[in-house]
Amino acid sequence: MARYGILTSGGDCPGLNAVIRGTVLQGTAVHGQEFVGFLDGYRGLVHGDIKLLTRSAVRGISKNGGTILRTSRYGPYEEDGGPDVIKKVLEELEIEGVIAVGGDGTMAAAARLLRDGIPMVGVPKTIDNDLEATDFTFGFSTAVEIATEAADRLRTTGDSHMRCMVLEVMGRHAGWIAMYAGVAAGAHAILIPEAPETLEQICKWVNAVKDRRRAPLIIVAEGFTFPDMDAAFSHRGLDEFNRPRLGGIGEILAPLIEERTGITTRATVLGHIQRGGVPTAFDRVLGTRFGQAISDTLADGDFGKMVALRGTQVIRVPFSDAVGHSKNVYAEFYNGARALFG
Ligand code: F6P
Repeated sequence: MARYGILTSGGDCPGLNAVIRGTVLQGTAVHGQEFVGFLDGYRGLVHGDIKLLTRSAVRGISKNGGTILRTSRYGPYEEDGGPDVIKKVLEELEIEGVIAVGGDGTMAAAARLLRDGIPMVGVPKTIDNDLEATDFTFGFSTAVEIATEAADRLRTTGDSHMRCMVLEVMGRHAGWIAMYAGVAAGAHAILIPEAPETLEQICKWVNAVKDRRRAPLIIVAEGFTFPDMDAAFSHRGLDEFNRPRLGGIGEILAPLIEERTGITTRATVLGHIQRGGVPTAFDRVLGTRFGQAISDTLADGDFGKMVALRGTQVIRVPFSDAVGHSKNVYAEFYNGARALFG
């Protein structure tokens, strides 16, 4: 019976457990495959730290947030890692291939491991929805639901006090979460990294709302910049992949709006709440379909592929299509929403 390993790497994301369950069920029921999980992302692969993934080990987990395998931003080429160490681990554990579930950084590492002779396949994951190769990533829908609910809640307190409410959401350098939550909640302005706006323009929108005796609601993506900023605001140092940790632009924006417009303004930074808790049905379904499709990919020996959603179909794309191409909010989508700001 062919044996494979699965790992979840990078930031966690609602729907990871649905992928693990979908893979194991399809593999055991349809292809006669056996699975182990590597713990803590690539660290488990390097150290041979595993958990057996039998059918009963994945029972009922799709509805749970997080990942039963835990995750990390540890890279497989770090200090104690590298292809030779990993090959030895796979040999000893009689594992014929590895499924990496992760975002851009995880897929880049998987592509490098593949070039170094490790049989790898991939499943895309991120709440940011910023991977070009797939129309949607699982986790995004849940993040949008949480952000929308937060915006709806801010609206009622903002309305009661006649305050401007600023909600900062995640998304790194893509404005997808902000756009979907902003449109859903009927925000009066949505500020995204793809479309820098001046403070003057933002205040015009705020004043227009105020003049109609409404309480302005602004959604700002953590990666938003004013036109004169070279890079997104970051005051928290670097993450484990050496990328700036974003967050805090909402708290910069709020006092500026208050000072210029005279309307009392409060900022809320939603943070990791967007990544936690019960996944939406959409994310569970997409995660399950990706899991089943990756088991099929292994059964075909189609290494070097990542599964992706195109329209309504789950397809396979080469790693090269998946790595280094980020998907930004389309100009038509932003401009269509922008026409209604204020
Ligand atoms: O990529 C997912 C994401 O949640 C981003 O939206 C955010 O900028 C980042 O990860 C936060 O990372 P961390 O969990 O390391 O603080």
